[in-house]
Amino acid sequence: MPDTLTPVLTDMWDVDRAWTLPAYEAKGGYQSLDKAFAMKQDDVIAAVKDSGLRGRGGAGFPTGMKWSFIPQDNPRPKYLVVNADESEPGTCKDIPLMMGNPHVLVEGVIVSSYAIRANKAFIYIRGEVLHVIRRVQAAVAEAYAAGHLGTNIHGSGYDLDVVVHAGAGAYICGEETALLEGLEGRRGQPRLRPPFPAVAGLYASPTVINNVESIASVPSIITNGAKWFASMGTEKSKGFGIFSLSGHVQKPGQYEAPLGITLRELLDLAGGIREGHDLKFWTPGGSSTPLLTAEHLDVPLDFEGVGAAGSMLGTRALQIFDETVCVVRAVLRWTEFYKHESCGKCTPCREGTWWLVQTLARLEKGQGTEADLDLLLDQCDNILGRSFCALGDGATSPISSSIQYFRDEYLAHLTHGGCPFDPARSTVFG
Ligand code: NAI
Ligand code: SF4
Repeated sequence: MPDTLTPVLTDMWDVDRAWTLPAYEAKGGYQSLDKAFAMKQDDVIAAVKDSGLRGRGGAGFPTGMKWSFIPQDNPRPKYLVVNADESEPGTCKDIPLMMGNPHVLVEGVIVSSYAIRANKAFIYIRGEVLHVIRRVQAAVAEAYAAGHLGTNIHGSGYDLDVVVHAGAGAYICGEETALLEGLEGRRGQPRLRPPFPAVAGLYASPTVINNVESIASVPSIITNGAKWFASMGTEKSKGFGIFSLSGHVQKPGQYEAPLGITLRELLDLAGGIREGHDLKFWTPGGSSTPLLTAEHLDVPLDFEGVGAAGSMLGTRALQIFDETVCVVRAVLRWTEFYKHESCGKCTPCREGTWWLVQTLARLEKGQGTEADLDLLLDQCDNILGRSFCALGDGATSPISSSIQYFRDEYLAHLTHGGCPFDPARSTVFG
């Protein structure tokens, strides 16, 4: 295996029946529990802070800092909620992680809940992935039977119950406050923040919401120490992460590597772009992050590097497109997704995504005018920063970045009277 890979979360994926408790314990699983229980809760939080772990759901908020916001003088119960509602187009890291090694998530849930003094935790899984829900439920049942969950865990005096909750299939429920609404049995729509969930979250109680990969990284930090984790990655983006390569690459899949690795290095590991073709554009972290191009092959894939290149690291969902793909068509397909998934709560996103699709569809068919490009950018301006949550903002990212890099291709649709690409040559959006 090349040196650039750092398999920690993925190291068991090839083990026979890796998802079972015996396989996990044979690899040293659940050993972080006793170490954590021997520490004070605040010291566990300090270790996670010192490690530099930042939220792996996309936003990169420092995990230990989020935990320290939980007000311990608040008499209400504290909750941990794992956001396993992975739905961002191209994002496919949490689902294989939960399939390949659900116990590392359960172990992370126990240590994290102990740290924030929660006695109840929820794992909120996207409703469509029944096989994942069953696998995580089975892991939780095994953990209860082995005494890793329940009352007086490992004789520590600490009690924890875990509920695996199935979502109902709305993209918006990946937004943390919409997720909480769903968990409480209401329609999934975002809440106003502040108050952030750390102060008033589930049932108005202090709640930490973290992504699957963030929580699954915690046992390795406790077992190996904060310094070990911080020795990987870059100055401000520490540790490792799962990079999901999809699209026109020779070997698509999950590549666990230190933050700061470049797409050029990842493509070397993935065998490069499919033979005889060239990279045209890519998303660093799903379709809500502005597109990048072949100019950006050497951008460090960390929060700062991708930000400086005008995009966002997001979920590290690297969707790779070669020159056979019509960027206008790709962007139209993503925009249709956002229109469909808009929860309808606020006007800029509910109405704006509808208008974006109208204008883009006209351009894609070659029936618009050059003024439609300015109209599209104006529509983006009226959504970006004016929407209630990040869904509206994200919907504008592929549009504005594609016009920035591929304005000529938009214009070619107009001069050509339709898509200049032979649809038969497009293997993605045919
Ligand atoms: P955000 O930056 O507003 O918040 C990130 C986290 O930090 C939240 O948990 C929030 O509660 C917490 N936080 C921020 N400021 C705080 C404060 N002052 N006090 C206490 N807590 C605070 O980002 P948001 O809107 O939660 O997520 C956006 C990201 O989600 C995007 O970067 C995108 O990449 C990602 N995303 C991921 C998807 C997936 O399928 N994994 C789907 C869609 C978007
Ligand atoms: Fe709903 Fe879109 Fe407004 Fe978010 S931005 S609250 S998804 S309508």
